Order: sequence, then structure tokens, then C-alpha cells
Amino acid sequence: MAALNVNGRNHDVKADPNTPLLWVLREHVGLTGTKYGCGIAACGSCTVHVDGIAMRSCSVPLSAVEGKKITTIEGLAQNGVLHKVQKAWIDHDVPQCGYCQSGMIMAVVELLNNKPKPTDADINSSITNICRCGTFQQVREAIHAAANA
Ligand code: FES
Ligand code: FES
Repeated sequence: MAALNVNGRNHDVKADPNTPLLWVLREHVGLTGTKYGCGIAACGSCTVHVDGIAMRSCSVPLSAVEGKKITTIEGLAQNGVLHKVQKAWIDHDVPQCGYCQSGMIMAVVELLNNKPKPTDADINSSITNICRCGTFQQVREAIHAAANA
């Protein structure tokens, strides 16, 4: 049994310690906003925050996150109010199919937490998530909008 705190709620998870956090979240905790893309930490669609740090949950075992605070896309809005990154995403029509977007948003939230006014170079080096729909230009515009919100 592993104790996790996900989006402010405690969960006791009965799973093999090697189970990737992604599958713990989706299948044990029931939060399916975090998506499986590649399974090898390459695409970023599974990005969540672990103690405030963006991590690719497909490649983080349950044993590594025991007792830590995990935030998923479902935990970003506070008291029914969307995070400014979510608002910018809507204003700039960023998502197309949407599959990569929860991971993209979680990565961007961490970037803005660390660098409130990122340059294009900061965005290029920090946001390495892959979007098969090619929303990269809209992502960039929305990041700057959120930074100025
Ligand atoms: S599914 Fe985790 S990085 Fe692609
Ligand atoms: S919006 Fe479709 S993969 Fe990114």
C-alpha cells in the first residue's frame, strides 16, 4: 500500500511499487486527464507535478512518489476558477485534438512558476512536449498571454 496525495486528497494505492505513476493515476485514482503517448518520457503527454516539479508520469514508478504531493490537470483549477494558463488556452484556441494538451499545460504551468515572463528561448528550451497536431505557435502565444495576465 502506498500513500499518495493527489490534488489535495489522500489515496492509499494498492499496486506494484514499479507501476508507473501514469497508470496509478488513471487506473487506481480514476483521473484520466493525464494521457499516455509514448511511455518512454519522450512526448510529455503524461506530465504532472510532483511536489511542484513537472515530471513525465509514464516513467516515474509509484515507489518514487510515495508521500509526495501530486497535481494533475484535474487539480489545476482552484475553487472552480481556471488557472490563468487554462484561460489563455481557451482564449487562444490552442487545442486541436486535445490529446497532448493536459501534459502541455502542466509543463507550461511549471515554466511560469519558475520564470513568470519567459522569452521565446526559454519556451523553446523548457517546453519539449510533442503535439502531433502542430499547435506549437498557439502554445507560444498562449504562454506569453498567460505571462501577461
Ligand atoms: S507518455 Fe510519458 S512522455 Fe510520452
Ligand atoms: S492537440 Fe492534438 S496532439 Fe496536440
